[in-house]
Amino acid sequence: MTQRTLVLLKPDAVRRHLIGEIIGRIERKAGWSVTALEMRTLDRAILEQHYAEHIGRPFYEPLVEFMSSGPVVAMVVEGERVIEGVRQLAGPTDPIAAAPGSIRGDYGTIVRENLIHASDSEESAIREMKIFFPGLS
Ligand code: TYD
Ligand code: MG
Repeated sequence: MTQRTLVLLKPDAVRRHLIGEIIGRIERKAGWSVTALEMRTLDRAILEQHYAEHIGRPFYEPLVEFMSSGPVVAMVVEGERVIEGVRQLAGPTDPIAAAPGSIRGDYGTIVRENLIHASDSEESAIREMKIFFPGLS
């Protein structure tokens, strides 16, 4: 079951020089490929689309502040069961609850600054890929 997912390396990952480390973990999974990649600083408008489901929640404003605080690396990753797979590599949202060996478990402490975003379903992946890579078919 080949899938595509949208991955963001968040501003904390970029600031902490973890781009290579995180992409390396993804690339080393058998058969997974990065098929699109761009580094950019996100503005409020694109974050409003990306995090539409969270508008109005208490953590939304600080999340937007953080996510626009520096460049992110946006990627499409393609491969076998990659949607569930990258979520598994990332670990749970709260890095303290994330197991060592996962990206968030190894590098994070703060819920907001949890290094990586990965689409949570096929529907989210399609929606999010359109936001970040509108030219992709
Ligand atoms: P969410 O979609 O619930 O988590 P995930 O990134 O694991 O899919 O939330 C989106 C981001 O919002 C999350 O990565 C970090 C931030 N966030 C907070 O800062 N505080 C919170 O209580 C929650 C639930 C999320
Ligand atoms: Mg989410």
